[in-house]
Amino acid sequence: MEINLNKLLLSLSYTLDFIEMDVLGVTSNHSKRVAYIANILAKQLNMNDEERFDLVACCILHDNGVTEYMLKEAIKTNSSKRKLVLENFKEHCIISEENLKEYPFLTDVTNVIKYHHETYNGKGFFKKQKNEIPLMSSLIFFGDHLDNVFNLKDTNYNKIENIDKYVRGHSGKLFSPEIVDSYFNVSSKPCFWLDLKDEFISDAIRRNIPNIKMKKSWKQIEKITKIFSLIIDKKSTFTLRHSQGLADKIETMGKYYDKDEIEILKLKIAANLHDLGKLAVSNDIIDKQSKLNEKEVYLVKQHTYYSRISLSNLVGFEDITEWACNHHEKLDGSGYPFGLKAEDLDFNSRLMTCLDIYQALMEERPYRKGLSHGQSMEILKDMANQGLIDNKIVEDIDIVHCNDSLTL
Ligand SMILES: [Fe+2]
Ligand SMILES: [Fe+2]
Ligand SMILES: [Fe+2]
Ligand SMILES: [Fe+2]
Repeated sequence: MEINLNKLLLSLSYTLDFIEMDVLGVTSNHSKRVAYIANILAKQLNMNDEERFDLVACCILHDNGVTEYMLKEAIKTNSSKRKLVLENFKEHCIISEENLKEYPFLTDVTNVIKYHHETYNGKGFFKKQKNEIPLMSSLIFFGDHLDNVFNLKDTNYNKIENIDKYVRGHSGKLFSPEIVDSYFNVSSKPCFWLDLKDEFISDAIRRNIPNIKMKKSWKQIEKITKIFSLIIDKKSTFTLRHSQGLADKIETMGKYYDKDEIEILKLKIAANLHDLGKLAVSNDIIDKQSKLNEKEVYLVKQHTYYSRISLSNLVGFEDITEWACNHHEKLDGSGYPFGLKAEDLDFNSRLMTCLDIYQALMEERPYRKGLSHGQSMEILKDMANQGLIDNKIVEDIDIVHCNDSLTL
């Protein structure tokens, strides 16, 4: 299939941005604005299309490791201090770089994400300075820093004057003089500031970023989405294997039902991305030790809606989006977020629902231990008897699992 990988990333960025919102209180479309600024300055600096294409990808993914990092440190502190905690640790740079080892970049982007907090005068996490810092890293830092300090989606004449003053004042300190010069070349045009507004940023990105389409097989796309499943799973220690476990189980069941290779790969992609919207749910809720209250349940129930928003514009992903985003719908219409009914839910959506519940039951949660196959099947059969989930699929899961155990 022909795909522009950056379009895939930009779609996923809608939910990836929630990571920073949760930790830093950064507002919507942050990574798109970082990508827009870095790309437009890179053009000024004569970077070629392939490099700028990779730069945009790095911008969108610059803080992908923050979720795991949060688990270690930031989550222990109250939200007002989280920004401070994050700024003081460099692990998120290393993890963010590490997570993307398998990503099919077109050029060599080694250390670009790792050094995205380095400053021109060598006061960043790794004390790199001047030309020791990859240009791409400095461009990410420039856009990231300005958006964090000034919230660039919301600017006016006076604020722009202040931003200009700030950039000039930090030339040769935080920022390289070369990047500062490019900034003044582009920021003097009204379109620069208008493009950064929430209502225009998506179009502006489309107009400006290199449109490079690549032929990728479904197998390669599955591999790329697996990177995202790791990012999603790392959101919480309790879901460390959730999407991965679901992808494995859906592959096993796909083979049991004799589905062809492409359908199985698409099902795995759907499994990899099904809980993408969970990135939009605060860790305070996901990791809560006690029972969730009504307001928290209401917020958790939004996650499949966010998954759908992220995936729905991707050409070629239409059936994947259905299978991924219907996993909390129930046959009797009591599920969420749409309250779809049996006639709206195709076989693969039903399969995803059953396996998602099965996978979740077997995992440990803050409030209970993981259940055995037998205990999980009891719950699944009970739900099937109530007309919530597909009876035949539940029986098949039992058969396949029992066969699996015999061969172990
Ligand atoms: Fe960062
Ligand atoms: Fe950022
Ligand atoms: Fe879910
Ligand atoms: Fe799930």
